[in-house]
Amino acid sequence: RLLIIDFGSQVTQLIARRLRELNVYCEIHPFQSVDEAFLKDFAPRAIILSGGPASVIDEGSPRPPKGVFTLGVPVLGVCYGQQVMMEMLGGEVVRGDGTAEFGRAYVAPTGEPLNLLEGWFAPENSGGREQVWMSHGDHVARLAPGFEVYGASPNAPFAVTADQARRFYAVQFHPEVHHTPNGGRLYENFVRIAGFTRDWTMAAYREQAIAAIRDRVGGEKVICGLSGGVDSSVAAVLIHEAIGDRLTCVFVDTGLMREGEADEVVGMFRDHYNIPLIHADESSLFLDALNGVSDPEIKRKIIGGLFVEVFEKHAHSVGGAKFLAQGTLYPDVIESVSFSGGPSVTIKSHHNVGGLPERMNMKLVEPLRELFKDEVRALGRELGLPDSFVGRHPFPGPGLAIRCPGEITPEKLSILRKADAVYIDQIRRHGLYNDIWQAFVALLPVRTVGVMGDSRTYDYACALRAVTSVDGMTADYYPFSHEFLGETATRIINEVKGINRVTYDITSKPPGTIEWE
Ligand code: XMP
Repeated sequence: RLLIIDFGSQVTQLIARRLRELNVYCEIHPFQSVDEAFLKDFAPRAIILSGGPASVIDEGSPRPPKGVFTLGVPVLGVCYGQQVMMEMLGGEVVRGDGTAEFGRAYVAPTGEPLNLLEGWFAPENSGGREQVWMSHGDHVARLAPGFEVYGASPNAPFAVTADQARRFYAVQFHPEVHHTPNGGRLYENFVRIAGFTRDWTMAAYREQAIAAIRDRVGGEKVICGLSGGVDSSVAAVLIHEAIGDRLTCVFVDTGLMREGEADEVVGMFRDHYNIPLIHADESSLFLDALNGVSDPEIKRKIIGGLFVEVFEKHAHSVGGAKFLAQGTLYPDVIESVSFSGGPSVTIKSHHNVGGLPERMNMKLVEPLRELFKDEVRALGRELGLPDSFVGRHPFPGPGLAIRCPGEITPEKLSILRKADAVYIDQIRRHGLYNDIWQAFVALLPVRTVGVMGDSRTYDYACALRAVTSVDGMTADYYPFSHEFLGETATRIINEVKGINRVTYDITSKPPGTIEWE
């Protein structure tokens, strides 16, 4: 197995993801918990040192144990990992004096070919250069003995360095991010150099996840909030496999669900899976609390708080559940939480992480916390969830509340629900559902004038949203044909009383977000 030592970079999980794609088993451990004894016990076949926000020049900045370099296994240092390697092995790192580099850069080969770079610098890739993503303040000024340079960019003369004899590799940029388009190749080469057989699968992940859940939960009871989305469904089935009927699912009908949602979810879990399920109709609780509220963060906080209240009530009613399970994914974690001084800021309080009030006195079980959406889908298939369920578009915990900018009323929700059903029906009829990451209608807090028949109308406008995405972190609007858009607008206006104008949202993420709030 491969050990990733995490120095706090925002993108460390992406390294793990790249390795899982290569069918290599890896574990991420924070640098604080990796000492010589741990290393010996873990016995890694290879080690990756991640990036991180610290500066190796600063007193007390993190270091891995020296054993990393005496085990005789291949080591790859990324960004901060590169600097730590150079510093510990006898090179020199200096502070960026205006040479900090953030963003796209191009690396060109220098010197001999390097096994780590096999398949790189192909002429078809911008004439023999490779696009990479840099994000660093300090840089290496002198290489450690035994190291040579194999790639450089205009601002990073030591972009790719290695000591081939010892199989130590160190790169200044981040090969794991999308903006290093061929970065996956570096990891592929690295695991080949380390001699991995690449036979790790989602089935193995399932087993590990089940063992980890049993370990965390012990003999206690768990309740799991089901939202109707894929994540909480996969989490529930996985936990049920781990602990059986000590799991109870709670489907909280917030009054903010889509048309038919409650029946579908309850039918699936109670009838198909035979998982104990409480169907809690709490719509008046939620809608009363949201009455008159229009600020998106306040909406999210209110909803998060009420979810906890309802979960706590049911934790009690099932005879004292100590754990609350949630389908939190890695992108939710990274967008809601600021890591160890890292540069990530809170964009939105996703209810299943940042919005949870401190006072909650249940512990969390979040078995999908390391995964990205497409990996959760693969796990869902592995668990035997039907394709129609696994392929469902994501649906956020706060539901229609964040698709109804401004104040929420039962009337607006009813209009939104109908429009959304027509829109999704259109998408399915045209066979587009699976090409789209997520599609929904947002009901705008704007009334506009129209004319229907011979009468004037003064009704709501709505916006259609449809995006493509790999992991929800970035997204592009979906390029519907004009014909499709025209037909959908006509259907919505004809079939949904209360809407007389339809617009299409063509904002990508960033700068927009997928949801409107
Ligand atoms: P944004 O709007 O942040 O959404 O670009 C990214 C993805 O996350 C979903 N989302 C949520 N999921 N609780 C959730 O479980 C939330 O509070 C939440 N907010 C956004 C969103 O639907 C999209 O798939």
